[in-house]
Amino acid sequence: MKPKTQYICQNCGAKSPKWVGKCPSCQQWNTYVEEIVTNIVKSPAGVYQNSEVRPVKISDIKTDTVVRIDTNNAEFNRVLGGGIVPGSVILIGGEPGIGKSTLSIQIALNIPQKTLYVSGEESASQIKLRADRIKKSSDNCLILCEVTVENIIPAIREAKPSLVVIDSIQTLRTVNAESSPGTVTQIRECADILIRFAKENNVPIILIGHINKDGNIAGPKILEHMVDTVLQFEGDSSHVYRVLRGIKNRFGTTSEVGIFEMLTDGLRQVSNPGELLIHHHDNNTSGVTVAAAVEGLRPFVIEVQSLVSTAAYGVPQRSTTGFDTKRLNMLLAVLERRCGFRLNTKDVFLNIAGGIKINDPAMDLSVITAVLSSDLDIAIPHDVCFAGEVGLTGEIRPISRVEQRIVEAEKIGFHKIFISSAHKKNIENIRHTIEIIMVSKIEELFRLLFVKRRSTQE
Ligand code: TYD
Ligand code: MG
Repeated sequence: MKPKTQYICQNCGAKSPKWVGKCPSCQQWNTYVEEIVTNIVKSPAGVYQNSEVRPVKISDIKTDTVVRIDTNNAEFNRVLGGGIVPGSVILIGGEPGIGKSTLSIQIALNIPQKTLYVSGEESASQIKLRADRIKKSSDNCLILCEVTVENIIPAIREAKPSLVVIDSIQTLRTVNAESSPGTVTQIRECADILIRFAKENNVPIILIGHINKDGNIAGPKILEHMVDTVLQFEGDSSHVYRVLRGIKNRFGTTSEVGIFEMLTDGLRQVSNPGELLIHHHDNNTSGVTVAAAVEGLRPFVIEVQSLVSTAAYGVPQRSTTGFDTKRLNMLLAVLERRCGFRLNTKDVFLNIAGGIKINDPAMDLSVITAVLSSDLDIAIPHDVCFAGEVGLTGEIRPISRVEQRIVEAEKIGFHKIFISSAHKKNIENIRHTIEIIMVSKIEELFRLLFVKRRSTQE
């Protein structure tokens, strides 16, 4: 008999008896895949399947202090909120080639306790080559090349590791579902088996997940709900810097990030980002500014480069690396409407140094200045930095942790910092030698930076 099948959207999990090109539920194209329907036998409700199931009073519940596993990697610990909680499941997502496998094998090799690295993507010798590359060997790290969950579970039981890494969840399959690896059903079933195992046996598991073209972890969104922690490994594979960002964390904050540098011998932790991301350029290059940014809870300065040129073709280009293109368009519209700059006929390119994506609204001020500086071809002195958000009316808005930014900028040797005038109160209490220039409107910034200097130059 032909098995009964149905079509399931690989993006949102919607079902349909027939194939459809565009999912009516999430509007994505070409996401339906045929999967075999497996019958789930439902037992009648109203009868306890296990007689020990009873609710208890919250005051009667005892909590043991959780001893987290130290990963020997300060940046990784920081993102997790102080190490791995036993029995927790951590999902690490990221683009291909960004370094997910490298990070995980490094963690597995570094932990003094026994670890098990399960790979469905690479052979044991390939993993060994990678380990040799990061010049680390460990007798406590076991390797298993296997994709069937039913074989992986007994292997974990037998090896009794303190940490399991699964590279990657998309390559796994379970014998209970007949669809091919990587489909919604397989991912969900495999994750379910592993998560249950982790909770019951108090073994933490790191799951590596691929991401699809819009940057979400491939497979059902539900996977992110099932696990305890979701981390995103970001960066530009042509640059060396990588950022590990918490998206969800049941056992810690999501406001911390880990910063790494991909070297020829593995990932190096960048514990003190400070001035790492600025080049000391000479004083007369236009289009270069420095932002006093905060990522996670740490302040650092980062270089912003812009190039504005006359559009060669009809539609001007807007291209960014490390910055949201929509946000750039918004800032350009503000410049155009509020300050009368005609940028709609020009190509605008914007780069954030190191290929790092920064989610800090305080970058706005330096982005605007870089664009203006390039457009007018007037350089910004290299001892000046910026921190401020720009609103739709062209107002410079206050930002978080301004004191920390000022202190960091001063420490690195900047002589001037531009911030919003709404910060008057915040800075009363800090002692500083750096000159703080407060501006409330873009026009004011423009006048201070370009008009005055232009007239003195002439
Ligand atoms: P990898 O961990 O395989 O990426 P992912 O698992 O996310 O797909 O990393 C691949 C890239 O990292 C590869 O292009 C080579 C580079 N790399 C280094 O630069 N240095 C190293 O020590 C290692 C192991 C990899
Ligand atoms: Mg990999």
